[in-house]
Amino acid sequence: MKSIVISQPGVLEIQQREIPQPADDEVRVKVIYAGVCGSDVHIYHGHNPFARYPRVIGHEFFGVIDQVGRDVMPSRIGQHVVIDPVVSCGQCYPCSVGRPNVCLNLQVIGVHRDGGFSEFACVPASNAHIVPKTIPALHAALVEPFSIAANITAQLKPTAQDVALVYGAGPMGLAVIQVLKKVFGVAHLVATDRIASRLDRAIECGADQVVTNQDAYLLDYFQQYGRAPTLIVDAACHPAILQQAIELASPAGRIGIMGFSDAPCMISQKDLTSKELAIFSSRLNSARFPQVICWMGDGKLNPDALITHKLDFNQVGVALHLFENEPAECCKILLEFPG
Ligand code: NAI
Ligand code: MN
Repeated sequence: MKSIVISQPGVLEIQQREIPQPADDEVRVKVIYAGVCGSDVHIYHGHNPFARYPRVIGHEFFGVIDQVGRDVMPSRIGQHVVIDPVVSCGQCYPCSVGRPNVCLNLQVIGVHRDGGFSEFACVPASNAHIVPKTIPALHAALVEPFSIAANITAQLKPTAQDVALVYGAGPMGLAVIQVLKKVFGVAHLVATDRIASRLDRAIECGADQVVTNQDAYLLDYFQQYGRAPTLIVDAACHPAILQQAIELASPAGRIGIMGFSDAPCMISQKDLTSKELAIFSSRLNSARFPQVICWMGDGKLNPDALITHKLDFNQVGVALHLFENEPAECCKILLEFPG
Protein backbone atom coordinates (compact mmCIF):
# COMPACT_ATOMS: atom_id res chain seq x y z
CA MET A 1 0.00 0.00 0.00
CA LYS A 2 0.96 3.64 -0.31
CA SER A 3 1.18 5.88 2.75
CA ILE A 4 1.81 9.60 3.05
CA VAL A 5 4.64 9.93 5.54
CA ILE A 6 6.37 12.89 7.10
CA SER A 7 9.71 11.16 7.55
CA GLN A 8 11.21 14.14 9.38
CA PRO A 9 10.16 17.78 9.72
CA GLY A 10 9.96 19.31 6.22
CA VAL A 11 10.15 15.99 4.35
CA LEU A 12 6.96 14.53 2.87
CA GLU A 13 7.15 11.16 1.12
CA ILE A 14 4.73 8.73 -0.43
CA GLN A 15 6.09 5.42 0.81
CA GLN A 16 5.32 1.87 -0.21
CA ARG A 17 4.50 -0.08 2.98
CA GLU A 18 3.20 -3.50 3.95
CA ILE A 19 -0.58 -3.56 4.45
CA PRO A 20 -0.85 -3.67 8.28
CA GLN A 21 -2.60 -6.44 10.22
CA PRO A 22 -5.05 -5.22 12.90
CA ALA A 23 -4.13 -5.96 16.54
CA ASP A 24 -6.66 -7.97 18.59
CA ASP A 25 -8.82 -4.95 19.46
CA GLU A 26 -8.39 -3.12 16.14
CA VAL A 27 -10.11 -2.89 12.79
CA ARG A 28 -8.40 -2.20 9.49
CA VAL A 29 -9.95 0.56 7.41
CA LYS A 30 -9.65 0.85 3.64
CA VAL A 31 -9.45 4.64 3.49
CA ILE A 32 -11.64 6.42 0.91
CA TYR A 33 -11.46 10.14 1.78
CA ALA A 34 -9.20 12.01 4.17
CA GLY A 35 -9.40 15.72 4.98
CA VAL A 36 -6.42 18.05 5.20
CA CYS A 37 -6.22 20.03 8.44
CA GLY A 38 -3.93 22.71 9.81
CA SER A 39 -2.34 20.23 12.18
CA ASP A 40 -1.16 18.09 9.24
CA VAL A 41 0.68 21.12 7.92
CA HIS A 42 2.10 21.82 11.39
CA ILE A 43 3.44 18.26 11.68
CA TYR A 44 4.94 18.61 8.19
CA HIS A 45 6.79 21.74 9.27
CA GLY A 46 7.85 20.29 12.61
CA HIS A 47 5.63 22.73 14.54
CA ASN A 48 3.57 20.21 16.47
CA PRO A 49 5.24 19.48 19.83
CA PHE A 50 3.44 16.13 20.18
CA ALA A 51 4.42 14.62 16.81
CA ARG A 52 7.08 11.93 16.50
CA TYR A 53 8.69 11.07 13.15
CA PRO A 54 8.38 9.25 10.82
CA ARG A 55 4.60 9.79 10.94
CA VAL A 56 1.69 8.92 8.67
CA ILE A 57 -0.41 12.08 9.09
CA GLY A 58 -4.19 12.52 8.72
CA HIS A 59 -6.84 12.41 11.44
CA GLU A 60 -9.99 13.20 9.45
CA PHE A 61 -10.88 10.09 7.50
CA PHE A 62 -13.65 7.91 6.22
CA GLY A 63 -13.42 4.37 4.88
CA VAL A 64 -14.71 0.81 4.96
CA ILE A 65 -13.65 -1.86 7.45
CA ASP A 66 -11.94 -4.64 5.50
CA GLN A 67 -10.35 -6.69 8.30
CA VAL A 68 -10.83 -7.10 12.06
CA GLY A 69 -8.61 -8.19 14.94
CA ARG A 70 -9.28 -11.35 17.00
CA ASP A 71 -11.48 -9.64 19.63
CA VAL A 72 -13.67 -7.78 17.12
CA MET A 73 -16.88 -9.16 15.60
CA PRO A 74 -16.22 -10.21 11.98
CA SER A 75 -19.66 -8.77 11.14
CA ARG A 76 -18.01 -5.33 11.29
CA ILE A 77 -16.29 -6.04 7.96
CA GLY A 78 -17.94 -3.88 5.30
CA GLN A 79 -19.10 -1.15 7.71
CA HIS A 80 -18.71 2.45 6.58
CA VAL A 81 -16.80 4.20 9.34
CA VAL A 82 -15.30 7.49 10.45
CA ILE A 83 -12.45 7.49 12.90
CA ASP A 84 -12.40 9.41 16.16
CA PRO A 85 -8.72 10.34 16.46
CA VAL A 86 -8.84 10.49 20.29
CA VAL A 87 -7.33 7.33 21.81
CA SER A 88 -7.50 7.44 25.62
CA CYS A 89 -6.56 5.18 28.52
CA GLY A 90 -9.96 5.08 30.25
CA GLN A 91 -8.28 5.02 33.69
CA CYS A 92 -7.06 8.53 34.54
CA TYR A 93 -8.99 11.41 36.13
CA PRO A 94 -10.01 13.16 32.86
CA CYS A 95 -11.18 9.84 31.39
CA SER A 96 -13.16 9.07 34.57
CA VAL A 97 -15.10 12.33 34.21
CA GLY A 98 -15.89 11.86 30.53
CA ARG A 99 -13.04 13.98 29.15
CA PRO A 100 -10.96 11.43 27.18
CA ASN A 101 -9.80 14.25 24.88
CA VAL A 102 -7.48 15.44 27.65
CA CYS A 103 -6.49 11.95 28.84
CA LEU A 104 -3.17 11.87 30.69
CA ASN A 105 -2.03 9.23 28.19
CA LEU A 106 -3.67 10.80 25.14
CA GLN A 107 -2.72 9.36 21.76
CA VAL A 108 -4.09 11.25 18.79
CA ILE A 109 -4.32 9.22 15.58
CA GLY A 110 -2.27 11.01 12.92
CA VAL A 111 -0.20 12.84 15.55
CA HIS A 112 1.09 10.46 18.26
CA ARG A 113 0.42 7.37 16.13
CA ASP A 114 0.02 6.70 12.43
CA GLY A 115 -3.04 8.22 10.79
CA GLY A 116 -5.33 8.05 7.83
CA PHE A 117 -3.32 9.44 4.89
CA SER A 118 -2.73 5.87 3.79
CA GLU A 119 -4.56 3.32 1.67
CA PHE A 120 -5.15 1.27 4.84
CA ALA A 121 -5.10 2.23 8.51
CA CYS A 122 -5.48 0.10 11.66
CA VAL A 123 -7.35 1.78 14.53
CA PRO A 124 -8.94 0.67 17.81
CA ALA A 125 -12.35 -0.82 16.96
CA SER A 126 -14.08 1.51 19.42
CA ASN A 127 -12.72 4.55 17.53
CA ALA A 128 -14.35 3.44 14.25
CA HIS A 129 -17.89 4.86 14.28
CA ILE A 130 -20.49 3.47 11.89
CA VAL A 131 -21.84 5.95 9.37
CA PRO A 132 -25.20 5.14 7.77
CA LYS A 133 -24.83 4.45 4.07
CA THR A 134 -27.24 7.33 3.38
CA ILE A 135 -24.49 9.81 4.34
CA PRO A 136 -22.21 10.38 1.32
CA ALA A 137 -18.56 9.45 1.80
CA LEU A 138 -17.45 13.01 1.07
CA HIS A 139 -19.63 14.34 3.89
CA ALA A 140 -18.65 11.61 6.33
CA ALA A 141 -15.01 12.64 5.96
CA LEU A 142 -15.99 15.91 7.69
CA VAL A 143 -17.37 14.37 10.87
CA GLU A 144 -14.10 15.06 12.71
CA PRO A 145 -13.97 18.82 12.07
CA PHE A 146 -17.63 19.07 13.05
CA SER A 147 -16.83 17.12 16.24
CA ILE A 148 -14.58 20.03 17.26
CA ALA A 149 -17.56 22.36 16.85
CA ALA A 150 -19.77 19.92 18.75
CA ASN A 151 -17.28 19.88 21.61
CA ILE A 152 -16.89 23.61 22.05
CA THR A 153 -20.64 24.22 21.75
CA ALA A 154 -21.34 21.48 24.31
CA GLN A 155 -19.37 23.58 26.78
CA LEU A 156 -20.99 26.88 25.79
CA LYS A 157 -24.59 25.57 25.82
CA PRO A 158 -26.03 27.86 23.13
CA THR A 159 -29.70 28.82 23.29
CA ALA A 160 -32.16 30.48 20.92
CA GLN A 161 -31.64 33.71 22.92
CA ASP A 162 -27.96 34.00 22.13
CA VAL A 163 -26.33 36.68 20.04
CA ALA A 164 -23.23 34.87 18.82
CA LEU A 165 -19.92 36.14 17.48
CA VAL A 166 -17.52 33.78 15.72
CA TYR A 167 -13.94 34.87 15.03
CA GLY A 168 -12.43 33.20 11.98
CA ALA A 169 -14.23 31.71 8.99
CA GLY A 170 -11.76 28.94 8.20
CA PRO A 171 -12.86 25.29 8.39
CA MET A 172 -13.20 25.49 12.19
CA GLY A 173 -15.13 28.75 12.32
CA LEU A 174 -17.47 27.59 9.55
CA ALA A 175 -18.18 24.31 11.34
CA VAL A 176 -18.91 26.25 14.54
CA ILE A 177 -21.20 28.65 12.67
CA GLN A 178 -23.19 25.76 11.22
CA VAL A 179 -23.61 24.06 14.59
CA LEU A 180 -24.60 27.31 16.33
CA LYS A 181 -27.17 28.24 13.68
CA LYS A 182 -28.42 24.98 12.24
CA VAL A 183 -28.38 22.82 15.39
CA PHE A 184 -28.85 25.26 18.26
CA GLY A 185 -30.67 28.02 16.38
CA VAL A 186 -28.99 31.00 18.04
CA ALA A 187 -30.96 34.21 17.48
CA HIS A 188 -28.30 36.18 15.65
CA LEU A 189 -24.84 35.19 14.48
CA VAL A 190 -22.06 37.51 13.39
CA ALA A 191 -18.93 36.11 11.75
CA THR A 192 -15.71 38.04 11.47
CA ASP A 193 -12.62 37.37 9.37
CA ARG A 194 -10.15 39.34 7.30
CA ILE A 195 -10.69 37.49 4.02
CA ALA A 196 -13.78 38.49 2.04
CA SER A 197 -14.32 35.15 0.29
CA ARG A 198 -14.28 33.39 3.65
CA LEU A 199 -16.97 35.73 4.91
CA ASP A 200 -19.07 34.77 1.87
CA ARG A 201 -18.73 31.17 2.97
CA ALA A 202 -19.76 32.17 6.50
CA ILE A 203 -23.05 33.49 5.07
CA GLU A 204 -23.55 30.21 3.22
CA CYS A 205 -23.01 28.42 6.56
CA GLY A 206 -25.73 30.44 8.26
CA ALA A 207 -24.15 33.66 9.56
CA ASP A 208 -26.72 36.48 9.71
CA GLN A 209 -24.07 39.17 9.37
CA VAL A 210 -20.39 39.34 8.52
CA VAL A 211 -17.99 42.02 9.65
CA THR A 212 -14.38 42.57 8.63
CA ASN A 213 -12.34 42.57 11.80
CA GLN A 214 -10.76 45.90 12.44
CA ASP A 215 -11.51 46.64 16.08
CA ALA A 216 -13.79 49.63 15.66
CA TYR A 217 -16.01 47.89 13.15
CA LEU A 218 -17.05 45.11 15.51
CA LEU A 219 -17.68 47.50 18.38
CA ASP A 220 -19.67 49.77 16.05
CA TYR A 221 -21.59 46.86 14.70
CA PHE A 222 -22.78 45.63 18.11
CA GLN A 223 -23.53 49.18 19.28
CA GLN A 224 -25.75 49.71 16.28
CA TYR A 225 -27.29 46.29 16.62
CA GLY A 226 -28.21 47.20 20.19
CA ARG A 227 -27.14 43.98 21.90
CA ALA A 228 -23.69 42.75 22.87
CA PRO A 229 -22.66 39.21 21.98
CA THR A 230 -23.70 36.71 24.65
CA LEU A 231 -21.69 33.83 23.19
CA ILE A 232 -18.30 34.24 21.49
CA VAL A 233 -16.14 31.59 19.85
CA ASP A 234 -12.57 32.31 18.88
CA ALA A 235 -11.86 30.05 15.89
CA ALA A 236 -9.18 32.41 14.55
CA CYS A 237 -6.98 31.87 17.59
CA HIS A 238 -4.81 34.96 17.46
CA PRO A 239 -3.67 35.71 21.04
CA ALA A 240 -5.02 39.29 20.82
CA ILE A 241 -8.59 38.14 20.29
CA LEU A 242 -9.43 37.04 23.83
CA GLN A 243 -8.97 40.56 25.16
CA GLN A 244 -11.22 41.98 22.43
CA ALA A 245 -13.81 39.28 23.05
CA ILE A 246 -13.90 40.12 26.76
CA GLU A 247 -14.48 43.80 25.93
CA LEU A 248 -17.27 43.02 23.49
CA ALA A 249 -19.06 40.35 25.53
CA SER A 250 -22.40 40.96 27.23
CA PRO A 251 -22.53 40.56 31.01
CA ALA A 252 -23.14 36.87 31.76
CA GLY A 253 -21.65 36.00 28.38
CA ARG A 254 -19.60 32.90 27.58
CA ILE A 255 -16.42 32.78 25.53
CA GLY A 256 -15.00 29.65 23.92
CA ILE A 257 -11.37 29.42 22.89
CA MET A 258 -9.59 26.69 20.96
CA GLY A 259 -6.15 28.07 20.13
CA PHE A 260 -2.75 26.61 20.99
CA SER A 261 -0.59 29.72 20.89
CA ASP A 262 1.82 29.98 23.81
CA ALA A 263 1.89 33.77 23.59
CA PRO A 264 0.35 35.43 26.68
CA CYS A 265 -2.99 37.30 26.46
CA MET A 266 -3.59 40.68 28.13
CA ILE A 267 -6.68 40.23 30.26
CA SER A 268 -7.64 41.65 33.62
CA GLN A 269 -9.65 40.19 36.49
CA LYS A 270 -11.90 43.26 36.49
CA ASP A 271 -12.89 42.86 32.88
CA LEU A 272 -13.92 39.29 33.53
CA THR A 273 -15.42 39.53 36.99
CA SER A 274 -17.36 42.75 36.50
CA LYS A 275 -19.39 41.01 33.81
CA GLU A 276 -19.10 37.54 35.39
CA LEU A 277 -17.91 36.11 32.10
CA ALA A 278 -17.17 32.43 31.64
CA ILE A 279 -14.27 31.26 29.48
CA PHE A 280 -14.26 27.72 28.19
CA SER A 281 -11.48 26.03 26.28
CA SER A 282 -11.98 23.06 24.04
CA ARG A 283 -9.54 20.49 22.68
CA LEU A 284 -10.44 17.93 20.01
CA ASN A 285 -13.63 16.15 21.08
CA SER A 286 -14.89 14.06 23.96
CA ALA A 287 -17.00 11.28 22.43
CA ARG A 288 -18.95 13.61 20.13
CA PHE A 289 -18.83 11.45 16.98
CA PRO A 290 -22.25 9.75 17.45
CA GLN A 291 -23.87 13.17 17.94
CA VAL A 292 -22.30 14.63 14.80
CA ILE A 293 -23.20 11.56 12.71
CA CYS A 294 -26.77 12.01 13.94
CA TRP A 295 -26.84 15.70 12.99
CA MET A 296 -25.43 14.85 9.57
CA GLY A 297 -27.95 12.05 9.07
CA ASP A 298 -30.77 14.45 9.99
CA GLY A 299 -29.55 16.94 7.36
CA LYS A 300 -28.73 19.61 9.97
CA LEU A 301 -25.20 20.24 8.66
CA ASN A 302 -23.99 21.34 5.24
CA PRO A 303 -20.53 19.81 4.75
CA ASP A 304 -20.51 20.88 1.08
CA ALA A 305 -20.19 24.51 2.18
CA LEU A 306 -16.71 23.70 3.57
CA ILE A 307 -15.36 21.50 0.76
CA THR A 308 -13.44 23.41 -1.91
CA HIS A 309 -11.12 20.74 -3.35
CA LYS A 310 -11.02 17.01 -3.93
CA LEU A 311 -7.58 15.77 -5.03
CA ASP A 312 -6.02 12.38 -5.68
CA PHE A 313 -3.89 11.40 -2.65
CA ASN A 314 -0.77 11.43 -4.83
CA GLN A 315 -1.34 15.21 -5.05
CA VAL A 316 -0.86 15.64 -1.31
CA GLY A 317 2.06 18.04 -1.83
CA VAL A 318 -0.18 20.32 -3.91
CA ALA A 319 -2.94 19.97 -1.32
CA LEU A 320 -0.75 21.04 1.61
CA HIS A 321 0.62 23.95 -0.42
CA LEU A 322 -2.85 25.16 -1.41
CA PHE A 323 -4.16 24.77 2.12
CA GLU A 324 -1.35 26.83 3.55
CA ASN A 325 -1.03 29.52 0.91
CA GLU A 326 -4.45 30.09 -0.65
CA PRO A 327 -6.90 30.66 2.22
CA ALA A 328 -9.07 32.88 0.00
CA GLU A 329 -9.90 30.07 -2.43
CA CYS A 330 -9.32 27.07 -0.22
CA CYS A 331 -11.20 25.68 2.75
CA LYS A 332 -11.53 21.91 3.30
CA ILE A 333 -9.46 19.78 0.90
CA LEU A 334 -10.23 16.08 0.66
CA LEU A 335 -7.70 13.53 -0.53
CA GLU A 336 -9.22 10.69 -2.50
CA PHE A 337 -7.80 7.17 -2.20
CA PRO A 338 -8.42 4.48 -4.83
CA GLY A 339 -11.70 2.59 -4.21
P1 NAI B 1 -7.64 28.83 9.41
O1 NAI B 1 -6.31 29.43 9.52
O2 NAI B 1 -8.08 28.26 8.10
O3 NAI B 1 -8.76 29.89 9.85
C1 NAI B 1 -8.53 30.95 10.70
C2 NAI B 1 -9.25 32.16 10.13
O4 NAI B 1 -9.17 33.24 11.06
C3 NAI B 1 -8.65 32.68 8.81
O5 NAI B 1 -9.66 32.74 7.83
C4 NAI B 1 -8.09 34.06 9.18
O6 NAI B 1 -8.22 34.97 8.10
C5 NAI B 1 -8.97 34.44 10.35
N1 NAI B 1 -8.37 35.42 11.26
C6 NAI B 1 -7.08 35.51 11.68
N2 NAI B 1 -6.93 36.51 12.56
C7 NAI B 1 -8.16 37.09 12.70
C8 NAI B 1 -8.65 38.17 13.47
N3 NAI B 1 -7.85 38.88 14.29
N4 NAI B 1 -9.97 38.45 13.38
C9 NAI B 1 -10.78 37.74 12.58
N5 NAI B 1 -10.37 36.72 11.82
C10 NAI B 1 -9.07 36.40 11.88
O7 NAI B 1 -7.71 27.71 10.53
P2 NAI B 1 -8.82 26.60 10.94
O8 NAI B 1 -8.45 25.30 10.35
O9 NAI B 1 -10.19 27.11 10.70
O10 NAI B 1 -8.53 26.50 12.49
C11 NAI B 1 -8.69 27.63 13.30
C12 NAI B 1 -7.90 27.52 14.58
O11 NAI B 1 -8.42 26.46 15.38
C13 NAI B 1 -6.40 27.20 14.41
O12 NAI B 1 -5.68 28.11 15.22
C14 NAI B 1 -6.25 25.81 14.93
O13 NAI B 1 -5.01 25.61 15.58
C15 NAI B 1 -7.37 25.72 15.92
N6 NAI B 1 -7.87 24.36 16.10
C16 NAI B 1 -8.15 23.97 17.35
C17 NAI B 1 -8.67 22.74 17.59
C18 NAI B 1 -9.03 22.33 18.95
O14 NAI B 1 -9.47 21.21 19.13
N7 NAI B 1 -8.87 23.16 19.95
C19 NAI B 1 -8.90 21.78 16.50
C20 NAI B 1 -8.63 22.32 15.19
C21 NAI B 1 -8.12 23.56 15.01
MN1 MN C 1 -8.66 18.43 12.03
